[in-house]
Amino acid sequence: MSSMWGNKIKISLFGESHGAGIGVVIDGLPSGMDIDMDKVLAMMSRRAPGRYSGSTSRKETDIPQVMSGLYHGKTTGTPLCAVIENTDTRSSDYEKTAMKPRPGHADLTGLARYGGANDPRGGGHFSARIMAGFTFAGAICRQILETKGVQIFSHIYSISDVEDVPYNPITIPEDVASKSFPVLDEEKGRQMQERIAEASRQLDSIGGIVECMATGFPAGLGRPIFGNIESRLSSILYGIPAVKGVEFGSGFEAARSCGSVNNDHPHFFDNGIRLLSNHAGGVEGGISNGMPILFRCAFKPTPSIAKAQDTVNLDEMKNDTIEIRGRHDACVVPRALPIVEAAAAICLLDIFEEG
Ligand SMILES: Cc1cc2nc3c(=O)[nH]c(=O)nc-3n(C[C@H](O)[C@H](O)[C@H](O)COP(=O)(O)O)c2cc1C
Repeated sequence: MSSMWGNKIKISLFGESHGAGIGVVIDGLPSGMDIDMDKVLAMMSRRAPGRYSGSTSRKETDIPQVMSGLYHGKTTGTPLCAVIENTDTRSSDYEKTAMKPRPGHADLTGLARYGGANDPRGGGHFSARIMAGFTFAGAICRQILETKGVQIFSHIYSISDVEDVPYNPITIPEDVASKSFPVLDEEKGRQMQERIAEASRQLDSIGGIVECMATGFPAGLGRPIFGNIESRLSSILYGIPAVKGVEFGSGFEAARSCGSVNNDHPHFFDNGIRLLSNHAGGVEGGISNGMPILFRCAFKPTPSIAKAQDTVNLDEMKNDTIEIRGRHDACVVPRALPIVEAAAAICLLDIFEEG
């Protein structure tokens, strides 16, 4: 499995959902950086299950055990390794369905790739639980980026057909990270939660979009063609389970616009040149232009649903149906926000360190 990412800041994720534990090794961190472990835990707890109704009932404390790379609260500069124990595994939920691949999940492709040798329990290494180590790495990178003036924000942009107010692309947004359901418009948030509850009552699931913004990222970082900021960010974002689309700035809307509207026009201000708008999402020619880096990330509906679905029975080699009664989120989006922020933090620190 290729679970490594990065050029200067390299992360390596390991573990399976129902194995002894999961974790991450982060290599290439600058030495002597102060790390506030309470902030790391706060970010990780936003990913953990159970913060809003409709979330999976799996209870994980997600306490990382730091094995190396931190000394007296500072990074040593040598590999930082954190392990998170799996404490609430219920493999019987999956053993019943092991021979019936879950539609939309990685059971069938995992079988095709590894010939049955991979651990299938709870999705094994394909499980979003692996993102706990990823979020830990993101929380570390985020604190280092903050010392350089870079801040990362995200909110639920949409769930099903309900949309929150979008970020103003040129200003620092409201920080909604501490909200149990992180939206800018509370009424829209209530409607979204009702959509999730309704999907759950229907034994079904729904998807949605996360909007993320990084402010304070300086102009002139990133590289043209394949090392560009959009492709680097996309490559790490598509590592998050259930991500099916990524767009920057005006994204797909830009295809319906015209040049005079979509171009971001430079203007002299007292403190230098800035752009008057941010349709590009902070990236032109693959290089940061000093405007906020703005992107959106689409998540598909949770594959595991209790409603009967068509699948195959590999024991009996015949067509069959499956009803997945395990513990699942009817919508993964609310728990995905810190994971998206982590992806942004790891990627932007990597680009920063490349210079
Ligand atoms: C935070 C989060 C939680 C998830 N929880 C579940 C879950 O409970 N059940 C499930 O079937 N899929 C869940 N997923 C999605 C699957 O992990 C994912 O769809 C699967 O690994 C296949 O990968 P793909 O959708 O990227 O192709 C979750 C994803 C995220 C980001």
